[in-house]
Amino acid sequence: MTARRTMHLAAHFPGVNNTTVWADPRSASQIEFASFEHLARTAERGLFDFFFLAEGLRLREHKGRIHDLDVVGRPESLTVLNALAAVTERLGLAATVNATFNEPYELARRLATLDHLSGGRAAWNVVTSSDAFTGENFRRGGFLDRSERYTRAAEFVATARELWDSWTPDGTPRPFAHHGRHFDIAGEFTLPRAPQGHPVVIQAGDSDEGREFAASSADVIFSDWGSGGHPPGRHSTRHGTLEAGRAFYTDVKRRLARYGRSPDDLKIMPGVTVVLGDTAAEARERAEEIRRQQVSPQTAILTLEQIWGVDLSAYDPDGPLPDVDPVPDPQLSQGRTRQGDSTAIAEKWRALAQEKGLSIRQTVIEAGARQSFVGTPEAVAAELEEFVARDAADGFILVPHLTPGGLDEFVDRVVPLLQERGAFRTEYEGTTLRSHLGLAEPVWKG
Ligand SMILES: Cc1cc2nc3c(=O)[nH]c(=O)nc-3n(C[C@H](O)[C@H](O)[C@H](O)COP(=O)(O)O)c2cc1C
Repeated sequence: MTARRTMHLAAHFPGVNNTTVWADPRSASQIEFASFEHLARTAERGLFDFFFLAEGLRLREHKGRIHDLDVVGRPESLTVLNALAAVTERLGLAATVNATFNEPYELARRLATLDHLSGGRAAWNVVTSSDAFTGENFRRGGFLDRSERYTRAAEFVATARELWDSWTPDGTPRPFAHHGRHFDIAGEFTLPRAPQGHPVVIQAGDSDEGREFAASSADVIFSDWGSGGHPPGRHSTRHGTLEAGRAFYTDVKRRLARYGRSPDDLKIMPGVTVVLGDTAAEARERAEEIRRQQVSPQTAILTLEQIWGVDLSAYDPDGPLPDVDPVPDPQLSQGRTRQGDSTAIAEKWRALAQEKGLSIRQTVIEAGARQSFVGTPEAVAAELEEFVARDAADGFILVPHLTPGGLDEFVDRVVPLLQERGAFRTEYEGTTLRSHLGLAEPVWKG
C-alpha cells in the first residue's frame, strides 16, 4: 500500500488586503510585533509548514488620494521574520520580496541571514510587479518592461543561488562571478552556506510566464483560486473550484519535466479562506456576515469605480448598477497588482444583478471573492483532504480575515481532525522548512 499523502499548511498574515475585516472589535494592529507573534505562534502550535508575509511597496491610491478603506501601512518583511525566528522554533518564515526593485547581492545576503538565524527556515516569495507607479519609490524613469519581468526574476533567482553556493559546504569562501543580461557582478559573498543550502523559493503570479518561471525555478506556488482576485462568476461552486484547482495542478506539474524536475519538486498551495460553524447553516450565516463586513457601502462603490473607471460617488450602494459603460482608466486606482477586462466584468455584473435583482453592494458581495471552505470543522477537514487526494492542491495557504486571532479556531478545531484522518502531521519531523515541505536539499554547485 502506498503511503497516504499528507497536506502542507501555511498561514498568511492578514495585514493589508481586502479580505481583512478592520471593523471587528477583535481586530488588532497590523504593525505591532504582538500581532505577528500571535499568528506565528498559533501556526506553529498547529504544526504549519510556514508563516507568510505579503508585500506592497507603495501605498495604493484611488482618485488621487491614499486608498484607506483597507488599513494602510506595513513593516518590512525580512525584519519582521528575523524577530519571529527568535520566538518560534520550527515554523518556516516566508517573505514576499520583489525581483524588479531589488538587487541579488543584497537580497541573497538578507535571505541567507534569515536562514542562518532561524536554523534553516527561510523562504522567499518572488514577485515581479513592475509598474512605474511602484517603481517611482526606487528610481527615476526606465522601468523594466512588463515582458521582461520574469526573465529578470529567473536570472535574479539563479544569481542568488550562485551566491548561496559560493562558499563550499565545509566553509571555505570562494569568489563568484555572474555576467548576465540583467546582472553583471563579481566578488565575494559574506556568509557561509545556509542551513537549507538555498532558502525555499515561492512563486505567486497567474500568467503563463509566471507558471513557466515556477516550473523552472520555484519550490512552491502560491496560487489564487480560493481567496479572491479571480474574475467574478468563475469557480462559483465547490465542484467548479475543485475542477479549476485540478486543471491548474495538472498544467503546472506537467511543465516540470521540461526542466528535468519531478512533480514532487514543486508544491502547489492555493490561498484559501475557511469559515467554521457548529452547523452547516451557522457556518453559511457567518460566511455571509463576513462578506458584508468585507464589502462596506463605501467599498462597494470603490470596487465599482475601479471597474468603471469613473467617479461613482453619486450612486446609492443600495441602488442599481450604473447603466453607463465603463471607461477603463488605469490612473484612477494605482498600485493594484491585478486588473481584469473592465468591459467584460461590467457586463457579467450587470447580468448577475439583473438575474437576481441585486443592488450595487449585493452584486459586489455576490460576484467577488467567496469563502473557499465553509462548514463544520468535520466537513471542512474532509473537503481539504479531498482537494489534496484528488490532486487539486498539495496544501493550502490560509488567509484569515482577522488580525491576529483569525487562525485560532482552525488550529483548535480543524487541525486535530486532519491529524485523526492521517491527512496532516502530528509532529514536526525535521527542523528546516525544506524538511517540512519534503523538498531535498539542493546539491552544491561550486
Ligand atoms: C496569490 C497571489 C499573491 C500575490 N501576492 C503579491 C504580493 O504580496 N506582493 C506583490 O507585489 N505582488 C503579489 N502578487 C503579484 C504577482 O506576484 C506578480 O508579480 C504579478 O501578478 C505579475 O505577474 P503575473 O503576470 O504572472 O501575474 C501576487 C499574486 C498572486 C497570484
